[in-house]
Amino acid sequence: MTAFDELPSPVDPATNPHLRGVFEPQRAEIDSAELEVQGELPTTLRGSYLRNGPNMRFDPIGSYLYPIDGDAMVHRIELDGVGARYRNAFVRTPALVAEEAAGRALWPGIMTLYRPGPEVVGDDLAYSDRDLPDINVVRHGGRLLALAESAPPFRLDPADLRTVCKETFDGVVPAGLTAHPKVDPATGEMFSFCYSLEAPYLTWTAIGRDGVPTRPVTAVDGLDVPVMIHDMALTATYLVVPVCPLVFDIGAAMTGGSVLQWRPRMGARIALIPRDGAPVRWCSDEAFWMWHTANAYDAGDGTVVLDYVQWDHPGVVIGAQEPAASTLVRAVLDPATGRMTRTELADGTMEFPRIDDRLIGRPHRQVATVGESAGSDLVGGDADLLRWYDLDTGAGVTWGDAALSFGEPVHLPAGDGAHYWGSIVTDRSDRTSWFYVFDGEEPHAGPRARVRLPHRVPAGLHGAWLPG
Ligand SMILES: [Fe+2]
Repeated sequence: MTAFDELPSPVDPATNPHLRGVFEPQRAEIDSAELEVQGELPTTLRGSYLRNGPNMRFDPIGSYLYPIDGDAMVHRIELDGVGARYRNAFVRTPALVAEEAAGRALWPGIMTLYRPGPEVVGDDLAYSDRDLPDINVVRHGGRLLALAESAPPFRLDPADLRTVCKETFDGVVPAGLTAHPKVDPATGEMFSFCYSLEAPYLTWTAIGRDGVPTRPVTAVDGLDVPVMIHDMALTATYLVVPVCPLVFDIGAAMTGGSVLQWRPRMGARIALIPRDGAPVRWCSDEAFWMWHTANAYDAGDGTVVLDYVQWDHPGVVIGAQEPAASTLVRAVLDPATGRMTRTELADGTMEFPRIDDRLIGRPHRQVATVGESAGSDLVGGDADLLRWYDLDTGAGVTWGDAALSFGEPVHLPAGDGAHYWGSIVTDRSDRTSWFYVFDGEEPHAGPRARVRLPHRVPAGLHGAWLPG
C-alpha cells in the first residue's frame, strides 16, 4: 500500500481555522421568505444577490486548504422592493452525490494525493479528482453557473438552485473556465481563460450573449510553464490576463514538496490577448502576486489601464510564514513596447475589489474592497471593514466594526438610477448573519438596511447581483 491508496485521516476542525468560527460549514439547506428587515430597503432595488463559497458537506479527510478546497454552497438573497427572501443549496457534483450516499467524505483535500478507487466509489468515479465549483457564481446566456478554478462550471436551476449538470457548452469548452470570467456589458459576450498543467498552459474562449461560444478554445502563445492564474480583466480590445510566477511543479509534489512554487526571479507578465484573435502582446515587470483585478480599459492612446489588488507574494498558498501585504495598484500596459508602469493608488491591506459591473472594460470611478483593522486577519480570509475608493478624487472611505466579518462587496444598481453596495456580514458575537445594504454615494454612513438571514452564512468568496 502506498500514500496514493491509503485512506487519509480525518481533519480535526478544531485544528483548522477555516473550519471554525465564521468559516464553520453550514450544512442546512433552507428556503425562507419574509425575512426581518432593519432600516429601509430601497423600493427600486429589485433582484437577487447570489454568493458562492467553500462549505464542506462532511468533515474533510487528509487536508483542507482554504480558499481552494471545499464543497460549494450557493446562497441567494432576493429583494423585491418590499422585503427579502433567502435560499441556499449545495452544488451537487458527482463526488458530493457519492459522499452523501456514503454519509462521509470520500475525497481528500487537494493537498492530499489519495483518490478513492472503484471499490469505494464505483468505476465511473474511481481515481477521479473532485470538482470544486465553490469560487464564484455568474449568470450568462440563460445559464446560472457555479464556477471553479479553471475547470468546467456547474449549471444550477435558477428557480431552486438545484444542480443541473456540468456545463461544457455542448462540448465546445471541455476544460472549463476561470472562476472570474468577464462579461462585456456592451456586447453581452463573456470572455474567459483557462490554465492547464499540460501544454498549452493557457487558453481563452468567448461565449456569446445567447450562451453559444463565439471563439473556440484558443491557445495563448508565449507561456512555457504551467502557472496558477486566478482572475482576469477585459477591455473593449483585449483580455488582460496576469501571469505571476506561481508555478505548478508536479515533480516537487511527487517528492514531498509543494505543487505550487513561488519563483519571483521569473518576474510577472501580463498577457494582452486581442479579442479579434490577433497575436498576444506581453508586458512584463518585477514579480508580484495578484488574486483579483478591479477593472481594465483602453486608454485611447493605445495603452491599457489595469487596476488590481497587488500582493508581494501569494501567502498561505505557498505556505509563507511572513504575512503578505496588499495595495491597490494601477498598471499602464503598453502593447507596443511591452512596458508596464505601476502606480500605487491606495495602501492598506485589502481584497475582493469590485466595481459597478456595468462599467467592465470602461473607465470606472469607484472601487470597493474588504479590509482589516488591527484585530482581524484579512490574509486568513476574515475582514472586519469595507473600503470604497473614489479614483477621480483619490479619496477613500471606510465603514467597519470589529465584531463583524464582511464578505465581498457587490454593486447593486437600482431601477431609478440610484446605486447601492451589498455584503453578507456575520456578527461574531452572536453568530448571526445579515445582508447589509449601503448607499452607493455615502457608504461610510453605514448600512441603510440590514436583512437578517435565517441562519449563519459562512465567510465565503464571490458573488453576483442579478437585476430582477
Ligand atoms: Fe477570486
